[in-house]
Amino acid sequence: MAILAPSILSADLSNLSQQIRLVEMGGADWIHCDIMDGHFVPNITFGPILVEAVKKSTHLSVDVHLMIENPDKFIPDFIKAGADYVSVHFEEVKHLNRTINYIKALGAKAGVVVNPSTPIHFIKDIAEYIDLLLIMTVNPGFGGQSFIPNSNRRIKEAVELRKNMNAKYLIEIDGGISNKTIVDARNAGAEVFVAGSSIFHSENITASAIELKNLIS
Ligand code: DX5
Ligand code: ZN
Repeated sequence: MAILAPSILSADLSNLSQQIRLVEMGGADWIHCDIMDGHFVPNITFGPILVEAVKKSTHLSVDVHLMIENPDKFIPDFIKAGADYVSVHFEEVKHLNRTINYIKALGAKAGVVVNPSTPIHFIKDIAEYIDLLLIMTVNPGFGGQSFIPNSNRRIKEAVELRKNMNAKYLIEIDGGISNKTIVDARNAGAEVFVAGSSIFHSENITASAIELKNLIS
């Protein structure tokens, strides 16, 4: 199982539906939406209105990554806007079990995100309840950063933890994913690959998506 999830953070938003079409032609499986509030991370992006526009532009699954404070307050809006997957940061949520149940009760799949400095084993007691574990392979907030080298060891730990806990989450990685980093991460056990700048800032968006997809298939 290998899923390519282009991040529209690096797309030309003045031409959103065309940009989505280009990655669809390149074999994209999900569309990843990075929601930033200027508090949890030092950057602001977009909210439910844009997620709704993404949903109208594609039949692919919409993967919403919430980098915001107090995500519980906005989860219903994002699910109403069409999010198929909603992921919240371990570092932000006080009552993670409650929040994960809330996302699922509203009809979406639920994910937990861990920053590069958060030990993987911290998610042990939520592991069996989540659909997705998103391992940040850069510090969240910006596209175009370099893949943090110890990430592949962390991916392997997530594979091990899943086995030990009899959990079923998909392992997703986000940040610095390119034709230089994707194969080692795949070999380490990652299954969902978010890629922003390596796809949308390339000369040929469709060809870049095809290349990444081929490298993980
Ligand atoms: C970073 C975001 C990423 C970002 C990745 O906070 O979560 O999804 O779009 O961008 P690249 O692929 O350029 O590192
Ligand atoms: Zn993201």
